Amino acid sequence: MTEAVREIPLSRPWMGEREEELVLEVLRAGRLSLGPWIERFEEQLADRVGAPYAAALSSGTAGLHLLCKIAGIGAGDEVITSPLSFVASANCFIVEGATPVFADIDPGTLNMDPRAVEAAISERTRAIVAVDMFGYPCELDDLRDIAERHGLTLIEDAAEAVGAEYKGRPLGSHGPSAVFGFYPNKQMATGEGGVVATHSEDEWRQLVSLRNQGRSYDEGGGWFHHVRLGLNYRWTDVQAAIGIAQLEKLDRILELRSAAAARYNDLLADVEGVETPPADDPDHRRSWFVYVVKLDPGVDRAVVMDRLRREGVGTAEYVPCIHLQPYMRERFGFSEGVAPIAEEVASRTLALPFFTQIEPEDQERAAEVLRTAVAGS
Ligand SMILES: Cc1ncc(COP(=O)(O)O)c(C=O)c1O
Repeated sequence: MTEAVREIPLSRPWMGEREEELVLEVLRAGRLSLGPWIERFEEQLADRVGAPYAAALSSGTAGLHLLCKIAGIGAGDEVITSPLSFVASANCFIVEGATPVFADIDPGTLNMDPRAVEAAISERTRAIVAVDMFGYPCELDDLRDIAERHGLTLIEDAAEAVGAEYKGRPLGSHGPSAVFGFYPNKQMATGEGGVVATHSEDEWRQLVSLRNQGRSYDEGGGWFHHVRLGLNYRWTDVQAAIGIAQLEKLDRILELRSAAAARYNDLLADVEGVETPPADDPDHRRSWFVYVVKLDPGVDRAVVMDRLRREGVGTAEYVPCIHLQPYMRERFGFSEGVAPIAEEVASRTLALPFFTQIEPEDQERAAEVLRTAVAGS
């Protein structure tokens, strides 16, 4: 392959010898599920994000779903979430029979605008699923205040934001139960997996039971004793071992990703037609998940993306609005105009290759191809 067509992937997990070593330990011990590694991971993760309890699950989606179940969300309820997110932010309560209501975003942070959330509340509103989009902390204090005033459950979808800080403290430490995800494109990757960080012992017990077919949380009563309607959302010890190795180097991961983002910011600073992501401020310290740029209205995104792909530079539309997905239009009748700011942003954004070990030369090439593509579009 020539240099010109070498693929630069959109994302790639950082696995190393430590992950191999710990996975081997699990394999040799022979306890692949419900073993000691999961608890070990949960304790370390809880400690890292500043929550007293953590429950690991098979995915971030599973964590969000169980929090909706525990909140008692069901048919007839409305739940407010962000239109600019991954579908799981809404699916987690739709599967329980609730109706999504999308509150438009702040164009600066790309997270829900608290004023739009407040305006979206009706008599049927039961909960808010707040998202820390692209790893940028949402307006937690404002949202918590709204939730308290209206008697709503606040669930934090922090799937993209492990390690981020709001007002100087990590997400997970602030109170609302927060869900983190470990799919391979995430800052911490375990293949599949998620964790709920919670400040409620009772909620933690329910999570541990619900993820394990409704067995009692300490399995009192035996394997075939089920005290509630549960599911199999269990994680495995193999994944937990990878998670422990990833957690050990999380600070390094965050540092390297932050440096890679700063490099893109520099490379793209003078590129006409390209807007770089919002900067952190004293209240919001992001955990870099993806590097998403916004193209000026006159730039043809499809042409730009096509050029990037032809030159071997990974890219994706990041992210299409949830309410405009085909199943959402069909089921709830959503169409353009529900969330004009999110829709406008979603029509102009794209992700560039971004991962912990991305090489500076690859970033230079990606930036250069983007510059040429935008100029020629
Ligand atoms: C904002 C958001 N919420 C939820 C999820 C779901 O996480 P998982 O893929 O682990 O189920 C993701 C993952 O992509 C996400 O980005």
